[in-house]
Amino acid sequence: MKAIRIYEFGEPEVMKIVEVERPAPAADEILVKMYAASVNPADYIIRRGGNEGLKPLLKLPMALGIDGAGIVEEVGSDVAEFKKGDRVYGVPNYLDGSYTEYLAAKSNQFGLMPHTLSFNEAGSLPACARMAWNGIAEKAKVQPGQRVLVHGAAGGIGNLALQFAKAYGAYVIGTASAHNAEFLKQLGADEVIDYNTQKFEDVVSDMDVVFNATPTTSVDEALRLRSVKVLKEGGIFVCTHGVWPNDEFIALLARKNATVLMAGVDINHQHCFTEVAKLIDAGKVKPIISKVYPWEQAAAAHRDVETKHVRGKIVLEIRKED
Ligand SMILES: NC(=O)c1ccc[n+]([C@@H]2O[C@H](COP(=O)([O-])OP(=O)(O)OC[C@H]3O[C@@H](n4cnc5c(N)ncnc54)[C@H](OP(=O)(O)O)[C@@H]3O)[C@@H](O)[C@H]2O)c1
Repeated sequence: MKAIRIYEFGEPEVMKIVEVERPAPAADEILVKMYAASVNPADYIIRRGGNEGLKPLLKLPMALGIDGAGIVEEVGSDVAEFKKGDRVYGVPNYLDGSYTEYLAAKSNQFGLMPHTLSFNEAGSLPACARMAWNGIAEKAKVQPGQRVLVHGAAGGIGNLALQFAKAYGAYVIGTASAHNAEFLKQLGADEVIDYNTQKFEDVVSDMDVVFNATPTTSVDEALRLRSVKVLKEGGIFVCTHGVWPNDEFIALLARKNATVLMAGVDINHQHCFTEVAKLIDAGKVKPIISKVYPWEQAAAAHRDVETKHVRGKIVLEIRKED
């Protein structure tokens, strides 16, 4: 079978499609014939050699890709919830890579695809949906009528956080560049703030939840501190980055009796993907894809995502749908 591997860290061109051995599923795993994978910031971070937390774990040659969709080809002897032929979406075992023709992964990291979606649409979702759904539904427990601010609402995680919060009945304000304002309104945003020309803390207050989905860790600490001002007493700040909040931020939150929670941590993937599929099949949430690339053009796809200004997702098509 074919899979993408890197033999050195660096620019997008280090990604090569090569012949590798097809994996066999362990007793608690499924073998998935992959049709699509999405491109996430983790992919280019790993491709470049990793950040502080990842560096010690990365050993060349490496696979890439943290989510995708396909058809179950084989099931391990202990797997009861799937059968051959099921259309599934989910996440590979840690660092195994989803840019591949076949993937063996723990069955509990996959769910049945929403019935209404293509492989490319379903493959665009898992990594971002788990962060957005876990953050909005399970960590912040967003309720009807609550006020939610989503930083980076046009991105992969941000647009889903906005849609989930709307699906649960919240009043949602998103930050984005001006050209995304109309797009976010159509997705359901009640208000949109152009973060390039307006300070959100000047126009927003009394938020129950602030969900930070910006991909810019460099502005993150300042953004967190500014966000405390707009949280109401007892509010919740949801992080998507692995950068743990500093003492100043935690002290400011404490003065407001507010809390910081990490999305994507302690998550039951199968439950998450099942709930997300229900929302999608009910027409309450939809995947947003900017562009689908054949996986032979993974380098161009990475370059797009590295701009940090993609609307929704970039997808790699591994096989054409029959
Ligand atoms: N994707 C995952 O599975 C995953 C998992 C764990 C953690 N994370 C982390 O979560 C963060 C978001 O990930 P993502 O996949 O959603 O990223 P993304 O899709 O690459 O985010 C792109 C979006 O970010 C917006 N943006 C850029 N700079 C901004 C700023 N200064 N303020 C507000 N919005 C800004 C852009 O909006 P405009 O074009 O409108 O400016 C664009 O729509 C990243 O830091 C990532 O490392 C991601």
